[in-house]
Amino acid sequence: MRIGLFDSGVGGLTVLKTLLKKYPHNEYIYYGDTLNIPYGDKSKEELLNLAKNNVAFLLRKKVDMIIVACGTVSSNCLDIIKKENTIPIYSILEPTIDYLNKSNYENILVIATHATINSHIFKNNVKKNIYELETPKLVPIIESGDYTDLNKILHSYLDDYKNKIDALVLGCTHYPIIKEKIKKIINANLLDMSDYININNGNKSNLELYFSKIDDKITNNTKKILNLNNIDINLKQ
Ligand code: DGL
Repeated sequence: MRIGLFDSGVGGLTVLKTLLKKYPHNEYIYYGDTLNIPYGDKSKEELLNLAKNNVAFLLRKKVDMIIVACGTVSSNCLDIIKKENTIPIYSILEPTIDYLNKSNYENILVIATHATINSHIFKNNVKKNIYELETPKLVPIIESGDYTDLNKILHSYLDDYKNKIDALVLGCTHYPIIKEKIKKIINANLLDMSDYININNGNKSNLELYFSKIDDKITNNTKKILNLNNIDINLKQ
């Protein structure tokens, strides 16, 4: 099975990492649109155009299915992308929403990009007490790899929720990269959306990585996140 994944940058690699571990016998084709990152503050229309380009690229790579490894695109344009394509298109959001509805958690904080929070996808679909918080400073910090101000920023975002929640959804695929730092600040169960994806294990393993822009930061982040030293990173043609 050839599975295409896309995100605005290295965030979706957290999804790829989970899939590689759980379902190693598939061919994964990952595309990070680093030329257009961040997606989180873009309009619905802009997101749809970018998503269509990303899907078209993966279709040229002959994928059998696509997993949208980006909360921002999933929360804003998944229905349209699904309708316009014949291959199966999945996202990390639907399984997460299902999981939350079945869980025992009562008070749940979702942190995500502006566009995801603005869509109210969690509040509208999860029958629990949902707090929504946009945390737009996190993606640029994660992509830059410079964590100097991260602790201060996390405190400013999360301190108000310290005694209010039992679970926190990492509603952007970049956020699992700083999970350990978030854990130190807030005492709640941190939920990584990639953990709820269910797919089949195929019978052939392969990994192809593409980005629309490549520099040292992107290369280093990719190696660090996937915990692989020898990987080929390709520029999207
Ligand atoms: N990682 C993406 C998400 O899940 C996009 C973040 C961004 O580019 O702002 O929302």
